[in-house]
This record gives sequence, C-alpha cells and structure tokens, in this order.
Amino acid sequence: MERVPTGIEGLDELLQGGFPERTVNLVSGPAGSGKSLLSLEYIFNGAREFGDTGVYITLEESRENIERAMLNYKMDFQALEDQGKFYLIDLGDLRKEVDTAEEIETGLLAFSTLTEFLQKHLSVTHAKRVAIDSVTAVGLYYTSVEVLRREMFRFARMLKEFGVTSLLITESLENQQLTRYGIEQFIADSFITLGLEDVKGELRRTITVRKARFTRHDTATHPLLITENGLEVAAEEKVLR
Ligand SMILES: Nc1ncnc2c1ncn2[C@@H]1O[C@H](COP(=O)(O)OP(=O)(O)O)[C@@H](O)[C@H]1O
Ligand SMILES: [Mg+2]
Repeated sequence: MERVPTGIEGLDELLQGGFPERTVNLVSGPAGSGKSLLSLEYIFNGAREFGDTGVYITLEESRENIERAMLNYKMDFQALEDQGKFYLIDLGDLRKEVDTAEEIETGLLAFSTLTEFLQKHLSVTHAKRVAIDSVTAVGLYYTSVEVLRREMFRFARMLKEFGVTSLLITESLENQQLTRYGIEQFIADSFITLGLEDVKGELRRTITVRKARFTRHDTATHPLLITENGLEVAAEEKVLR
C-alpha cells in the first residue's frame, strides 16, 4: 500500500511510513497541543520533500497568523506557493470562491460548501494532500449530531473519491471526550490524539496513535516536542501513566 509520509520526525515511524494513500485522518487535541502545527507540517513537508501539491484550509485563524507561524518554524512556503505546490486558504478566500455560501456571512460553514470549494479547487490544482483546520468549526453549523454525522461521513467519502489523503483537525476540551462531538473518530480511517498536561508546572505534550486502518501501528503514548524547527515525536520514548 502506498504511504503518504508526514515528514515529521518520529511520527512516520509510528505509522509504518505514513498515512495510507486516499485515507481520511483525524487529529484531535486541546488548544495549544500542536494540531495546527502538525497539519501545517504535513502539507508543507508534502510539497517540499515529496513533491505533493497540498491545500491547507484554515477556518479559525487568519491567513496572516498562519503565515507568521510557518515562518516562525522556518517553513519557507513562498516559493512553493508561487510554484502552485502549496495553497493556503482562509475563510475570506472561501467567501470569494464559493458564491452560494451565504452561511459564510454568519461565520458558519457547511460541509457542502467545503465540498463545492474543493471540487473546483482540486480539479484545477490536482492537489494530493488536504488539511482542514478545523472541522470543529464546521460542526457548529449543525444543530443535530445525527445530521452532523451524516454530513461528515458524506464529506469523508467525497475526499476519498477525490483521491486525496486528508487530515482533519478537531478540538477536544480538556478532560472530556476525545473529540468535540464524540463522533469524528468513527468517520476517519486513522485517529491521532495530542495531549497537553501540566507536570510540575511545566507543559508536557504527547501524541498517541489510537487507530490506523491498514496499519500495524504503535499504540504507546510518546512525547511530542516543539522545537525551533517544528514538531518532533520521540518514537523510542514512552510516556507511562
Ligand atoms: N518554540 C516553542 N517551544 C514550545 N512551544 C511552542 C513554541 N512555539 C510555539 N509553541 C506553542 O506551541 C503551540 C502550537 O500549537 P498549535 O499548533 O497552534 O496548537 P493547536 O492548533 O492545537 O491549538 C502554541 O500553543 C505555542 O504556545
Ligand atoms: Mg490550531
């Protein structure tokens, strides 16, 4: 099976080389646990190291914030953007490109709008990697969990039909269920949780691969480090509880 490497030191080891091609992968964790950084690196490394065109859709932060974060971690995206290998899309861009998206005016966005956007975008760019940060923001559009589950399932199926290998971000609330709506993990092919704990006054970050279809993955919890060069997973080291 073809693997799509994240290019993040240590993480690909836990995943037997990366995500299987054409899968939908979910990363969950509390605020500050490194979700955005992980998904940015997935798209950036894909373009720079593996030649995969990628799209990063930010629904919670502005393009300016994301650009600043990337430069802070030495992700020099400008040249890749100019070459059409890297696309950074924010809510403002979606508003311009999807004309039926009245819901964007209210700040809320349905999966059908994202689908419409990606259909147009991917037919032109032929991107291989897509990251959506976050689907928690999209979930706010729905007032019923049943409808949300159905729409998210449909969205995941569409992503696979497009042939992309995608990363969906979902925010969890500390010390509560693993995902915001409690359903996201059932829709994805793989499920990675990030942790953020206060240990003697210092924040400790962790990463656990809880599920990975088609993969004999490592199931331990490992330290996740943020260095000046970005994320590093200590694949040989385990966090014991
Ligand atoms: N050099 C660094 N060392 C340690 N932590 C950092 C460093 N730079 C930024 N951070 C922290 O890393 C976090 C990055 O997390 P981010 O990917 O934005 O998290 P999330 O998307 O899960 O909220 C931020 O909360 C920031 O405080
Ligand atoms: Mg974030």
